[in-house]
Amino acid sequence: MTLLVSGTFSLGIVAIVHAIEEHLVSQEMDHELNVVLREDLPRGQAPRLASDTRFFASDRREYEIPDQFAEVVEGFSEIVTGDAAYYAYVREVDGRRYMLVQEQHEFETREQALFDVVLAGFLLSVAGAWGLGWMMARRVMSPVSRLAQQVRHRDPLLAEIPPLAPEYADDEIGQLAAAFDSTLGQLRQSLERERLFTSDVSHELRTPLMIIASTCELLEATHPEGREHEQVARIAHAAEEMRDLVQTFLLLARSRSEDAACEGTSTLAAVAEEQRSRWEPQIRDKGLDFELRVEGPDSARYHLALLRAVMSNLLRNALHYTDHGLVRLVLENGGFRVEDSGVGIPEDQRERMFQAFVRGVEARGEGLGLGLSLVKRICLHQGWRISVNSLAAGGSCFKVRLHESF
Ligand SMILES: Nc1ncnc2c1ncn2[C@@H]1O[C@H](COP(=O)(O)OP(=O)(O)OP(=O)(O)O)[C@@H](O)[C@H]1O
Ligand SMILES: [Mg+2]
Repeated sequence: MTLLVSGTFSLGIVAIVHAIEEHLVSQEMDHELNVVLREDLPRGQAPRLASDTRFFASDRREYEIPDQFAEVVEGFSEIVTGDAAYYAYVREVDGRRYMLVQEQHEFETREQALFDVVLAGFLLSVAGAWGLGWMMARRVMSPVSRLAQQVRHRDPLLAEIPPLAPEYADDEIGQLAAAFDSTLGQLRQSLERERLFTSDVSHELRTPLMIIASTCELLEATHPEGREHEQVARIAHAAEEMRDLVQTFLLLARSRSEDAACEGTSTLAAVAEEQRSRWEPQIRDKGLDFELRVEGPDSARYHLALLRAVMSNLLRNALHYTDHGLVRLVLENGGFRVEDSGVGIPEDQRERMFQAFVRGVEARGEGLGLGLSLVKRICLHQGWRISVNSLAAGGSCFKVRLHESF
């Protein structure tokens, strides 16, 4: 802006100085020429002129026009040759040329000085505007950068953080800080609510689950026979699994700082064996084959409840979405696969199936579409990786990598 304004202003000064110079000097010279032509020459006198002004005429030998001025056009013009500078004023009367030539060296020097001052003023004002603009921008932006810095380094989960707004003036930045404080407050409130909810759930469910478990123990103590014994054992097992699941959900809901609680306790083979005994009867009841194949040994230990939740969700899906053929659980070094010969998942749908509440067109039973999303979240939490693809023979293959060597 300054560049534009002061540039225009400076050019304007130069143009105006030129215009006024031309106007005044040409008027003056016109007047002088009049005096020479109407008074001095008719009286036979030499022209009365200032010492720096010369008179030339095309029809008088004593005032012959020098070659260097021969081409000068009629009217006022400025002539600059080398160091010398002249004003020339030419008038033509009946084919005769009369000319006044005035040295303008002194004026030119002053003019040059004026232009230098104008140029210096222009440069100074641009530099000043740049410096001032830079300083002001810094001053205006510094609270914004400070706020950004504070927001960036703030852990919203930390309990004791002072509000930001009191540190700032009551201007736009202060309002921004206050808005941030209130958003953070709401966020923390909802986090707190969620924390309370999960602990409430765990607390409330734990009691009935314990009652179920202790009732089962009491029933066991009466030494039930045959089918009854089996049913009591199944109830006890289901209650134990439910307790583990509640713990799994709690674990997923908690913040990362409690990750230490996720230490591995079970091997892949142990979990697979347990899942086999849980799912094989149901799979076979549906008329399908079940196969547990071990392709590589794996001795690492994994979180029991989490691995169990992943594997059982995949096996349950395989059971639900397979009508003929077989379900296969393959253990490898560092991971496992669940393969089936069922309906499969179209390629463009695969990513979507891992989202919560998304079910395929082939959805069966009462599900909500949460199974795969839970599996995905567990994998994220544990640093496992899950992928799905189709088998050549039809059906799908869910592959879980528990650590990198797989
Ligand atoms: N082994 C599979 N073969 C074919 N389609 C599958 C398989 N596993 C999952 N799907 C598809 O992915 C969708 C999402 O699975 P997800 O386990 O998340 O939900 P659901 O099984 O429908 O319900 P929920 O698990 O909550 O009871 C399913 O509705 C189904 O269309
Ligand atoms: Mg499912």
